[in-house]
Amino acid sequence: MKSSEIRSRFLIFFEKRGHAILPSASLVTSDEKGVTNSTLFNTAGMQPLVPYLLGKSHPKGKRLADAQKVLRTVDIDDIGDKTHATFFEMLGNWSLGDYFKEDAIKWSFEFLTSKEEGLGLDPNRLYVTVFEGDVNSPRDEEAADIWKGVFKKAEIEGNRIFYLPAKNNWWEAGENGPCGPDSEIFYDIANRFGGKGVTHEEYIDADDKRDVIEIWNDVFMQYEKKDGKIIGKLPKPSVDTGAGLERLTMTIQGVDNIYDTDLLKPVMDLMAKAQNDTKNKRIIADHLRSSTFLIVDGVVPSNTDRGYILRRLIRRAIINTTDKKLDEKRIGIFVDTIAEVYKDSYPEILEKKEYVKKVLTEEASKFGVALETGIKEFEKGNTDPFTLFTSYGLPIDMIVELSKAKGIAVNVKEFEEAFKKHQDLSRSGAEQKF
Ligand code: SER
Repeated sequence: MKSSEIRSRFLIFFEKRGHAILPSASLVTSDEKGVTNSTLFNTAGMQPLVPYLLGKSHPKGKRLADAQKVLRTVDIDDIGDKTHATFFEMLGNWSLGDYFKEDAIKWSFEFLTSKEEGLGLDPNRLYVTVFEGDVNSPRDEEAADIWKGVFKKAEIEGNRIFYLPAKNNWWEAGENGPCGPDSEIFYDIANRFGGKGVTHEEYIDADDKRDVIEIWNDVFMQYEKKDGKIIGKLPKPSVDTGAGLERLTMTIQGVDNIYDTDLLKPVMDLMAKAQNDTKNKRIIADHLRSSTFLIVDGVVPSNTDRGYILRRLIRRAIINTTDKKLDEKRIGIFVDTIAEVYKDSYPEILEKKEYVKKVLTEEASKFGVALETGIKEFEKGNTDPFTLFTSYGLPIDMIVELSKAKGIAVNVKEFEEAFKKHQDLSRSGAEQKF
């Protein structure tokens, strides 16, 4: 099954169950305060819907579903492994004070396992986690009981429901907004357990080894947080579901990593002959895909906020190539390939691809110059990360790499703090000009 079919099956499944289908919102968050928890990008499907989860009425009703573009940079150091990406699509269905745990759990199981309407995954390879409880919210026996009923009805045996703490089974997007306990669904991708029930310890070990991977999350939104503290219950409990399209696709297509799915393989194939590590190739594929989507959504490289994230992604893609270079021709081939993969689901990439190429090429060429002068400066003995970065534009990853070769350890945390201060200063400087 192609990724496009997984996406459309999901939307049709929920449309049949009374959900209005929404187009994906931009990757760039709306700047309305309190709406987006002040993040720069949408990091989850629920983020554009925060006002509605908090009680505002949605023009399309109480049941919604979509495939939302998201960007997460918290995982940036994990990129290159089998399952993480900075950009990905999150399939989601929402109940805004309508159905709750029973239907959310039942439908997630049905969609994942139904051959006719869903993905036809082997139900015996599913394992789930629920919230074990803490001072904020009780142990989620309700979700566990619903799961027991679902497994019993499907004649699936053995222990496969695990209670975990807030670190694993509590969801919130930052310090402010709706939050609550969740129930995550894992698939035994390695078929390690042969469809049997397992102990808590066996499950934890399989999760650590990524033999089981999270493919779905049902969040039961019940509380509201303000400045990091729960200030009360939501007017109506709601449901927020998230399922990563890349991970679902990898599970369905029987490959062990997201880069071998039809969403990323065409991009990886462009580098098939390059004498480069798989991890580096994956970083290039991931970062160029993210950069393309960001540019299409209106972001341009700069030294602050969203533009800085984009700049960092482009530069990281470049320093992961074997020759630390991306010229117009190579950029063109990458963007054409990404546009082709998404020509039906996000035709705007195809429409704007020449603009995307232009932005990427200009940034890559600026970086080429900076790289050359920065490296010269470093060779002359200026090893201070802050000046190398601010005056010469060398990315911190590159500074770390160069320094390592000379036996110098870079304190990245200290650098990041100094850089943040510098960004705040340049921002207030800009404000003073008006
Ligand atoms: N908000 C939850 C997540 O991102 C479910 O959509 O995992």
